[in-house]
Amino acid sequence: MANLQTTIQTSTPPLRDHRSLIEAASRYYSEAVRLNDVQLLEKASQLAYQAWQADDRYLPGINLLARIAMHRGQYQNAKYWVDNGLSIKPDSPGLLYSAGHIALSTGQLDDAEEFFTASSRISQVATKSPMYLAHIKLLKGAYVDAFQIYRELIKTQANDAQVRSKLFEATDQIVADFYSVELEQELLRWFEFEDVDHSQLRSLTTSMLQHKMRLTEQGCPLDPEQIANDPLLLAGLQHFYFTDPLMEKLLTTLRRSLLLSSSRELAIPGGFLDLVTGLAAQCELNESVWFIDPQETTLLSQLNDLAARILSLGDVNASDISAIVLLTMMYQPLRHAPFFDALVAHDILWPTHMAELMDKCLQEPLTIRAHASCVRTINLSGDPISDQVRAQYEVHPYPRWTSLGYHQPADYLDTLASLFPGAQLPERHEPINLLVAGCGTGRQAVRLSRYFHGLSVTALDLSKTSLGYAAMQAERYGCDIDFVHGDLLEAAQLNTQYDVIECSGVLHHMDHPEDGLQALTEQLASGGLMKIALYSRQARTLIRELRETLGEDLPTSESDIRLVRETLIQQGSEQWHAILQSPDFYSLSACRDLLFHTKEHTYDLQEVRRLIDNAGLEWVGMVAPQGAYKLAADVLKLKPQHLTLNDWHTLEQVNPALFAGMYQFYVRKP
Ligand SMILES: C[S@@+](CC[C@H](N)C(=O)[O-])C[C@H]1O[C@@H](n2cnc3c(N)ncnc32)[C@H](O)[C@@H]1O
Repeated sequence: MANLQTTIQTSTPPLRDHRSLIEAASRYYSEAVRLNDVQLLEKASQLAYQAWQADDRYLPGINLLARIAMHRGQYQNAKYWVDNGLSIKPDSPGLLYSAGHIALSTGQLDDAEEFFTASSRISQVATKSPMYLAHIKLLKGAYVDAFQIYRELIKTQANDAQVRSKLFEATDQIVADFYSVELEQELLRWFEFEDVDHSQLRSLTTSMLQHKMRLTEQGCPLDPEQIANDPLLLAGLQHFYFTDPLMEKLLTTLRRSLLLSSSRELAIPGGFLDLVTGLAAQCELNESVWFIDPQETTLLSQLNDLAARILSLGDVNASDISAIVLLTMMYQPLRHAPFFDALVAHDILWPTHMAELMDKCLQEPLTIRAHASCVRTINLSGDPISDQVRAQYEVHPYPRWTSLGYHQPADYLDTLASLFPGAQLPERHEPINLLVAGCGTGRQAVRLSRYFHGLSVTALDLSKTSLGYAAMQAERYGCDIDFVHGDLLEAAQLNTQYDVIECSGVLHHMDHPEDGLQALTEQLASGGLMKIALYSRQARTLIRELRETLGEDLPTSESDIRLVRETLIQQGSEQWHAILQSPDFYSLSACRDLLFHTKEHTYDLQEVRRLIDNAGLEWVGMVAPQGAYKLAADVLKLKPQHLTLNDWHTLEQVNPALFAGMYQFYVRKP
């Protein structure tokens, strides 16, 4: 093993006290990781090696040498040090934890699980082993196990952003089999966390509510007052849009009766104020996707007229108008209200129960407009399909995301190296120039900019409104992103060669996706990587059937989209099961994007291969979709990172919905 040791520079003369050497080395190591600094890491390495020379049985020193090697991606070297340490003390939680990490980084999930299990059994607190154990359970699809571990961890580590985000990731996969008061209390606490994506609490919240209200039991009487004050329902309404036909039925029924009963007196009964506010918040989130019947349409129109008249009278108090505004907001996002501009012109002190919602709904459209007007522009191509696509996203920017969630800050190239061990990556330099082509409302661009070190992010899109939304979110998350309005067919005008281009869910909406890919390839530096996401034909079989059924009558107006949606719901979950299962069915922009897009192409993996070959690009690898680890192990006895395109094709035949979230893959420009 002498060759391993020679990789460490020993120019500094050895010091005596191994403990103080390790203390200093640890400090250098922490700084090196924080700043992603190679020289500091080298210094840490030298000191740790000297410490080992002074005492070759001192475990914290040996463990530090392993962690430094791991950080450098030298897994063999790291394993050497860990094995060395474990031969001295086989039950060291710290070394077992490092061994788990090495196994995890090299894709040995079973080994990693064993090491983390052993480490947590010996000490629950010395390391983050339980956290990583749960992470592996997640990767392996053992969601309930993962959820139970995170649920325990959050009780003592609620301030740890990573624990919170992993808890939410696991919860996203959980459906409750029964109602539990204890779990409801926990959920209510989780709703109060910040910096998390609350929509990940949706399936658990919905299933808990279904059991609590016994929604699946035919003819079970419901007490509207009790529902109106249900804390879990109210929390859900404020934090995510519901994606369940039964909940939609319940909520639209309640909404209708609230509108009918409150419009008569133009007052909302006290016991229902929170519910009406919640339904207004829900309508903002789902962009008024629920069906509105003719009687409701008439009443809404009368309330809109009345609000406009009151606002035209001069001074207006909240008591004159708050009930009217709130009732209309159950049916239309405030920004679409015909009286929106008049309302903005008044300075109204809203009652507490609706103040926060009003502040957001009045401010946000103005902020988006202001940002959109500042975005720099390159040429639009004049391509007729690009024009139609732009028109769609100007009216319905997608997705209207509200929370980024949290990700452990990471190095972009290291992350790719662990996703695709052995892949040829772009040369390491700072900054890495990254283009998000077709960035939409910016979630991907903001996530990249916020959570990866050393990236310079440019984000391009056809739709100015989408860019306005994206820029607003970038500001909220403190990200410096260069937003550009234009057609990716004109990407040459960006005058930049990018190290990485990410283009997700965009090319398949172009008239000639191969031209779009060509335009992007020309802006990719030699050796650069491109991440592409494209629709799978197989995963969209049912959607294709629906589009064929609708033929020329693909709805584009909001009322038509609502009507077609309602018909699908009425026709029942059997016929359209997969569509009704998709969360995108439950918000207006997402539903239009999912089902009624003005232009879409779908692919199989042979066509993906041809597209890439024709663009002169090389295949790097597929981002494993959820469930892929277990499926690949069951069917092919392989791990996802070892699968070829043909293997993925085989897996897709076994599970046609495998790529419901699109084919997401990386290619490389030679
Ligand atoms: C389905 S959205 C995806 C947005 C984003 N990539 C995401 O994953 O959230 C498609 C986006 O691509 C944009 N787009 C479509 N064709 C484009 C083109 N030729 N040039 C630039 N952007 C385009 C649309 O305006 C829209 O915002």
